[in-house]
Amino acid sequence: MRTYEQSIAKHQAAKQHLAGGVASSLRASMKPTPLYAKSAKAACITDVDGNTYIDYLLAYGPLILGHAHDGLNESIHQALLNGATYGLQHDGEIKLADLLTEVLPCAEKVSLSGSGTEAVMLALRLSRAYTNKTKVVRFHGHYHGWSDSIFTSFPSSDMSQKASDDRAAAIPPGTFGQSENSLDDIILLPWNDPEALESTLRTRGHEIAAVITEPVMCNSGCIQPKAGYLALMRKLTQELNIVMIMDEVITGFRLSLGGAHGRFDIRPDLVVIGKAMGGGIAISAVAGNAEIMKLVDEGKVSHLGTLNGNCVSTAAAIATISHLAQDNGAAYKHMETLFTELADGIRALLSKHSIPGVVNQIGPVMHMMFIDAIEVNDFETFNKRDAAQYTRFAELMLEEGVLLRPNGLWYISTAHQSAEIEATLRAMDRVFVQLTLQTSEKQEVTG
Ligand SMILES: Cc1ncc(COP(=O)(O)O)c(C=O)c1O
Repeated sequence: MRTYEQSIAKHQAAKQHLAGGVASSLRASMKPTPLYAKSAKAACITDVDGNTYIDYLLAYGPLILGHAHDGLNESIHQALLNGATYGLQHDGEIKLADLLTEVLPCAEKVSLSGSGTEAVMLALRLSRAYTNKTKVVRFHGHYHGWSDSIFTSFPSSDMSQKASDDRAAAIPPGTFGQSENSLDDIILLPWNDPEALESTLRTRGHEIAAVITEPVMCNSGCIQPKAGYLALMRKLTQELNIVMIMDEVITGFRLSLGGAHGRFDIRPDLVVIGKAMGGGIAISAVAGNAEIMKLVDEGKVSHLGTLNGNCVSTAAAIATISHLAQDNGAAYKHMETLFTELADGIRALLSKHSIPGVVNQIGPVMHMMFIDAIEVNDFETFNKRDAAQYTRFAELMLEEGVLLRPNGLWYISTAHQSAEIEATLRAMDRVFVQLTLQTSEKQEVTG
């Protein structure tokens, strides 16, 4: 039996002076306690109690090369030796911008920022300045960072929110401290619904500056776009002078070197990338159409940030992208093969234990959920999953040495190998026995 005593004690100590006891609100939800890490290497992470886990949380996505990757560490180290940041320009920025325009199909020009949230803010500002319009269409279940201009709420709770012209029935803010006014410009639509998209864009296109979409609904069930849906979005936005923004903060450098837009062969006006781009170092970018990005060249749109394009983050991004690009995309084949094996293995175990569940996987990202459905292709069905059972499952997996995000989203890195996948499936086989037992005990008590 693993113990988490040190983590529990540290969390208590942290609460004294660190607001919330964690550095990002979401991390507080981990059961049985927010874990404190001691060290990590490749696919594994060790906590302060000495427990080692196979890691599928991967720092919520960025660690595409796994932990403490030697080549990446070396590049970061070299950069640090010459100075972490200058506030002056340096070669790393030029090299990274060149590299991004080379590997991202839609990128003619790029801007560098520090986080996905900041890059989304820039993409929205560019869209408004370019079109001279203000409204932004976003979708139920998608997440685009936590800035006031887009954070309607956490994806799982925005189903109840209805877009409306009626000021009194405006979208309620998803957090205290957020002004309702900031959401006046948001039009919230169901995703993967071509009719809703077309009718809204056609009737309100004159006031819509941008449509922002995750290319795969990674934040709510890893649901793929319906055939033709993104192409329709592209066609309508082009026709109606609306900027199409693809939020590739998760999918960028994960679904392929060219991100989801490369994989799906769609050319949005702007893409936002973050997470995997820096391999664990804070960096993000907006990339896209030179006509729109020109607004930054001309000084019409301000793009700011003290640490933008610093030496460490640009070195990390160049090293990460270069490693991913080696051997003709071998890294992507490796991750996809292993994750497909894992997803298939999980489906077989669900069936073996007669546990209703669905695994949605695309390349190196997947979502596993407990739900009485054959497939989950829309947000409404996704919201019927048994989230509490998944939390119990994640806690039992932790006991077995597998670290999972409590909401069901799994990532894999290039450092994961077959041995880890096999160990994960063996652990899950044991956990499913316990889960079934717990469920029947609960049913006996309530029955
Ligand atoms: C699709 C998407 N966009 C934007 C963001 C915000 O990125 P960051 O947390 O780096 O600000 C996230 C974060 O999870 C995301 O998943």
